Amino acid sequence: MTLLANDLKLDVTPLSGAIGAEIRGVDLRDPLDDATIRAIRDVWLDRKVVFFPGQDLDPDQHLRFAAQFGEPTEGHPVIPGIDSHPEVFEIDYTASRELYASYGDISTRYRGIHWHTDVTFVARPPMGSILRAVVVPPSGGDTLFSNQQAAFEGLSPALQAFLSTLTAVHDGQAQFKGVFDRVGEGKWEGATLSKLEPVEHPVVRTHPETGAKVLFVNPGFTSHIKGLERPESDALLAFLYEHSVQPEYTVRYHWQQGTIGFWDNRATQHAVAGDFGEQHRVIQRVTLRGDAPV
Ligand code: SIN
Repeated sequence: MTLLANDLKLDVTPLSGAIGAEIRGVDLRDPLDDATIRAIRDVWLDRKVVFFPGQDLDPDQHLRFAAQFGEPTEGHPVIPGIDSHPEVFEIDYTASRELYASYGDISTRYRGIHWHTDVTFVARPPMGSILRAVVVPPSGGDTLFSNQQAAFEGLSPALQAFLSTLTAVHDGQAQFKGVFDRVGEGKWEGATLSKLEPVEHPVVRTHPETGAKVLFVNPGFTSHIKGLERPESDALLAFLYEHSVQPEYTVRYHWQQGTIGFWDNRATQHAVAGDFGEQHRVIQRVTLRGDAPV
């Protein structure tokens, strides 16, 4: 598929039935004109995650690219940014066993991260995340993405209606307490965080740009559903977690060094395949500010 934005051709290749597209024909080192930004945004909203292979951005260019689509956050509420660019944080999955052991679910054994939506443990979770593949293992280390609009639409109307009445609690403590203890304090929305407080979000949110209903719970940070007994909440969440990452809602992406991946954090979950053993894998990420889910 080729989209025309002004006189620039954007080559868009869908990657699976439900989610993901590769975009070629645009050099992200350069500032983009408004029509190109709009065209990329339209593909992004539709496909939920877009990848730009063959790019070669430095952290400055990465940040500048991100800022054309939203307001970069402080990086991450807990993980410190790189020295030159606090808004850009890095995960070197191989650098430090102790550091990643302290991430809890970022396993030193499997070196993967389980399914999650970024930073849902704050009141206004990010709108989107822009990842730069810095060091890619020769094999493995793919990232899987799942379309949470499609997951919601795949449920029966009766369950959709019930879920739409529910509120979930999201808590970053289990995953990030170890890192928090190490770094001492975090920063988010201009405030200094001395601890992570649980927050509440609707189980089904309305996407602020498309108006679509989206399933908005994830095993990374959702602790329980309010108003249900714990066994009921656990059973319902277990069902939703399994349902929401069925293969027909997903894409699995194999990175090349320099590829930029940009996902809509309001409509997706993602997970790193922890199959790269001792091989080196490094990513850098810029995160865009979002709004309170409704
Ligand atoms: C992340 O969860 O943002 C990291 C994804 C990845 O390393 O592929």
